[in-house]
Amino acid sequence: MALWGGRFSKTTDAAVAAFSASVAYDQRLYPYDIQGSIAHVRMLARQGIIATADAEAIEAELLAIRGRIERGEFVWREDREDVHMNIEAALIERLGEVGARVHTGRSRNDQVATDERLYLRAEAARLDGLVAGLQRGLLAQARAAGEAILPGLTHLQNAQPVLAAHHLLAYVEMLERDRERLRDCARRLNRSPLGAGAIAGSTLPLDREMTARDLGFDEVLRNSMDAVADRDYIVEFLACLSIAAMHCSRLAEDVILWVSQRFGFIDLDDAFCTGSSLMPQKKNPDVAELVRGKTGRIYGHLMGILTILKGLPLTYNRDLQEDKEGLFDAIDTMAMVLTCLAPMMATARIRPEVMAAAAADPALMATDLAEWLVRQGVPFRDAHHMVGRYVRDCAERGQALDQASLEQMRQSIPLAQPECLELFAARRSVAGRDLTGGTAPSQVARQLAFWSRRLETAEETAP
Ligand code: ARG
Repeated sequence: MALWGGRFSKTTDAAVAAFSASVAYDQRLYPYDIQGSIAHVRMLARQGIIATADAEAIEAELLAIRGRIERGEFVWREDREDVHMNIEAALIERLGEVGARVHTGRSRNDQVATDERLYLRAEAARLDGLVAGLQRGLLAQARAAGEAILPGLTHLQNAQPVLAAHHLLAYVEMLERDRERLRDCARRLNRSPLGAGAIAGSTLPLDREMTARDLGFDEVLRNSMDAVADRDYIVEFLACLSIAAMHCSRLAEDVILWVSQRFGFIDLDDAFCTGSSLMPQKKNPDVAELVRGKTGRIYGHLMGILTILKGLPLTYNRDLQEDKEGLFDAIDTMAMVLTCLAPMMATARIRPEVMAAAAADPALMATDLAEWLVRQGVPFRDAHHMVGRYVRDCAERGQALDQASLEQMRQSIPLAQPECLELFAARRSVAGRDLTGGTAPSQVARQLAFWSRRLETAEETAP
């Protein structure tokens, strides 16, 4: 069929049709394509560009088409290339000349950008809810952890003891910023390209403010060329997802370490693990590993869109059609990651006694000893040196830091008092870090209360 009208004397080569068709994946934009077309024809009628009766007939038929799509009765045709042409052709099939008026003053260039922005606005809200679900799972776990203490790590080496709840709440903070970023991205992309036409606007008296208002856009894009050429909103959305995925991946990595036999800090619910086809004893954290692995493909899509855009002259180029599959895959992947991770974290069981045994390593409290010396007036750098010397002496004697006698300690720390040997208790160490953002139980209780208010009450609002 002559999809491209009078200019063409031949139909498209079959391989080219398959090569250039996007309907297999861009059909997911149909609710927004229809919403955009309805806003457009209402405006055309209000402006006297088409008859009100025609606009009404088009709107009714678009709704009927939406119904057929939702019921799985609509036949998507690859020879009609994309979601826009499929819906328009179906409209014209039903309404003839009336349907042929829908595309007045419009191009697929402003149409597709409109569809994408509406779609991403909705997805930002959905993903926000899913990230909030993971935050709630972590919050529940943090509460269940009570005052369990684990060795906090830097360089994967024992550093200082922390409450397990403090560790979990660190991720809640990161995820909160992910939500802020998504919300900010949604705010910036909520601007209307409609009316930009193919590149330069229209000679017809379109009312862009009206369609923007009807579609819930905050404003109209000021420059028609910008409106059809740029996909920075997709780059930004994928950047938001990449950062959120990175956070999920780090959480997954902590879980993988924690369930390993070397740590044994938590147990995962059987529903979130898989076994080995060979080794009967295995219970593997595959969900966490997949979360870590899938992060790579989300980053890949970010690189993909950046690369697609980098050499394009203004304005629209068909390369832009390649903006969709990676975006959709990243969104689907992120949604699956969050959907699996949230209940996995909520149902994990902490093993406080194993954590406590690991946190009993007196070396974790070496800083506490240095800070005790600071309180006696010793400059920190000197205190650090003395305690370092003490650590070395203990290692040479084959002693743990809490096993030396006071006399032995005084060889490296002349000011040492009997109470110094009592500093090596993790609970005391944790309790001492009683400042804003610290890991003392009193501080963590404040953080828990803050997150309960924010995540579990009516204050929680969608973007
Ligand atoms: N399917 C196309 C895309 O997603 C729609 C815009 C096509 N515009 C064009 N001038 N060929 O980019």
